[in-house]
Amino acid sequence: MLWRRHDLYSIRLYNSFFMKRIPTDVFGEWAESGRDEKMAKGHEPAVNHMLDLAIGDQKQFSFIDAGCGNGWVVRQAAKYPECVNAFGVDGAKQMVDKARRLDAANSYVCADLSQWKPNSAVDVVHSMEVIYYLDDPAAFLHNIYFSWLKPGGLLIVGLDFYEENKVSHSWPHDCDISIMRLMSEKTWVKMFKQAGFKNVTSLRFGAKKDWAGTLILKGIK
Ligand SMILES: C[S@@+](CC[C@H](N)C(=O)[O-])C[C@H]1O[C@@H](n2cnc3c(N)ncnc32)[C@H](O)[C@@H]1O
Repeated sequence: MLWRRHDLYSIRLYNSFFMKRIPTDVFGEWAESGRDEKMAKGHEPAVNHMLDLAIGDQKQFSFIDAGCGNGWVVRQAAKYPECVNAFGVDGAKQMVDKARRLDAANSYVCADLSQWKPNSAVDVVHSMEVIYYLDDPAAFLHNIYFSWLKPGGLLIVGLDFYEENKVSHSWPHDCDISIMRLMSEKTWVKMFKQAGFKNVTSLRFGAKKDWAGTLILKGIK
């Protein structure tokens, strides 16, 4: 049977949209195979810098890691003597199961970040390599602003997948993931401001040849 040109085009379109997998399914498997630990090692230098920026001036603080994976950043934050409460949220059940196995002292919940709200607002929300996986990152930022943070609270976000980091553009294809929103630094900054955040800053951590660095965005409620 001969395929017409528009049939082939439709098949390619179908594959690119429907055969890809949702992020939490992919990362659930990473938790099972141990790839989560390799990912954590890769993120660690940028996250250490983010924690310095976010926690440096805090007295006592409560903390949520949004998209916490196996919970390694929750455990890092909880080591600060000023930390009164550290909490992790992730949509991949295997990630949350692993976090709970590794750490009985802090709390973890398995939930979709787009829907979930904490029972009480916190001082610091951290998120590394997560929010571009959401259907509507702008709505999520609004949600954090209004329902997750105390007045004066701080949001800090790290992103490796963004417009200026050209090497990251192939990741949706390489990792076979359905939702990955590619946006520029300027667009992310604008989105933070539109959500209501004040003193919004952005910087790129660890830039080197062919790597634009981790884009770190910070804003205050
Ligand atoms: C690239 S991993 C980063 C994990 C962790 N922040 C780290 O640095 O190791 C992205 C994480 O976001 C979670 N995630 C993606 N979309 C989500 C959603 N809609 N709700 C909750 N978690 C989500 C995935 O399950 C995964 O653990």
